Amino acid sequence: MGRWWDLHKTYGPAYELSVPFFRLVVINHPKYMEYIQKTNFNNFIKGYEAKRNFHQLQRDGIFTSDGQAWYTQRKAATKAFTKKNFENHITTVLHRHLETLLKLLKRLADERMAFDFQDVMSRLLVCSTIQILFHVSTGMDNIFTSEPSCLHEICEFTEAFDKAQYLFDERRRNSLWPWTERLSGKDKLTSRAVDLIYGYMNEIIERRLQQKSSEDKQDQEEKGQVDLLDLFMQSTRDKDDLAGMCVNFLLAGRDTTAYSIAWFLLEILRPENARYTLVQRARDDIQTTGVNEYLGYGESAKLKFLNAIWNEVLRLDPVAPAGQLEVAADDVLPAVPEMDIPARPVRKGDCVVWHNYVLSRMPELWGPDAEDFKPDRWFSEDGQLQQPSPFTFHSWNAGPRTCLGKGFATHEAISVFAAVLPSFDFELVEPNKIYEGSSGMNMGVQDGLWVRVKERKDL
Ligand code: HEM
Repeated sequence: MGRWWDLHKTYGPAYELSVPFFRLVVINHPKYMEYIQKTNFNNFIKGYEAKRNFHQLQRDGIFTSDGQAWYTQRKAATKAFTKKNFENHITTVLHRHLETLLKLLKRLADERMAFDFQDVMSRLLVCSTIQILFHVSTGMDNIFTSEPSCLHEICEFTEAFDKAQYLFDERRRNSLWPWTERLSGKDKLTSRAVDLIYGYMNEIIERRLQQKSSEDKQDQEEKGQVDLLDLFMQSTRDKDDLAGMCVNFLLAGRDTTAYSIAWFLLEILRPENARYTLVQRARDDIQTTGVNEYLGYGESAKLKFLNAIWNEVLRLDPVAPAGQLEVAADDVLPAVPEMDIPARPVRKGDCVVWHNYVLSRMPELWGPDAEDFKPDRWFSEDGQLQQPSPFTFHSWNAGPRTCLGKGFATHEAISVFAAVLPSFDFELVEPNKIYEGSSGMNMGVQDGLWVRVKERKDL
């Protein structure tokens, strides 16, 4: 990530890189983002490269699809995050998992045991996300319980998931992967990880296909009990297609949120941020808002300071640090007069690439203190939370392909901190370490976030 920032300092917001088979055009400016993700949205597609790299894992799911195939899935999935679904199902599942988390932290506190908070969040998130999206118990209850010994449990599914994230990310950086994977034998590891993931997903889908009569669908939808699989089944009953669609959502939902929650904890504990008294201000926010330890639907938005920290975390530690799209037909990117950059032609088959990591650090967009972690920047003078244009604050993507899980992930993260901060003090095991972002499809805290926890006595 630091390398992109160095390249930006040398070449500015727009430059080209040559890689085997195609040309990469780097475009780090909101003007470009608005052009490719809104003004001329249809000409910038996931395209051939996304399919070539990720089809084996993501099939024709939302992340690799364009046109009608993308639109159908997007429309169906939007209904999984309605107010009714939040009120009836999402919060219930989340509360159950938060209850387990609090008990687990208490045990870890009693034993003064150091643990990887990022790993705990990945466990919580995989269990809750599967239940929220597919209304099934996961069959991996042993990996997240109130007993510290659960942290030694591994399951084949999550292991395969982790491996796949790493292996497929490597393909993005090596366009010769079809050859190098075969030569190194990595193709077998990749296939094994993919088979394990789909084996698990297929079981859920087969059970549902057998159970499901469609008569009660409308009733379920009205009660807010419909899940993502039901919604996808309204457009297809093909098992392989359904599995692909569902796996995309698990990929979207677990690591992104778990890692962002880990970055949140790191930022509020870092010694260099101590002057902002973030933990104390977050606790004051929770106390003055008067919410319970388990937030109801709509309550996460009331915790303004926690939301400001969350936004700042997503800005400086974007778990999706980069993105790319393919140019469908010859085009011309707009000029950026304020940075003295002329219009730039791009050709069919080029890939345009942006780095959220860089967009978030540009002083031209965020001011001279762009690289400082300062949640207060999110408040206007009258104390309201402000939202810059999504083409500037680009960590959630923008335009018609904006992250579908933004509200969901935000609610999950704020709920975690509203539950744990009033009852526990956290401390970093290595406060002076230089924490780096991990490589992989999402950027986590490299080597995890090791902490100790203490119950608060002054309650
Ligand atoms: C902190 C957490 C999250 C962040 C920072 C995040 C960020 C992003 C980004 C940058 C994209 C664009 C990716 C691309 O097109 O290559 C995206 C897309 C998407 N996200 Fe998220 N995401 C988060 C959590 C979630 C969750 C929890 C879900 C749902 C379970 C979700 C569902 C999706 C979906 C379905 C898309 C594809 C949208 C489309 O192409 O129309 N995300 N997200």
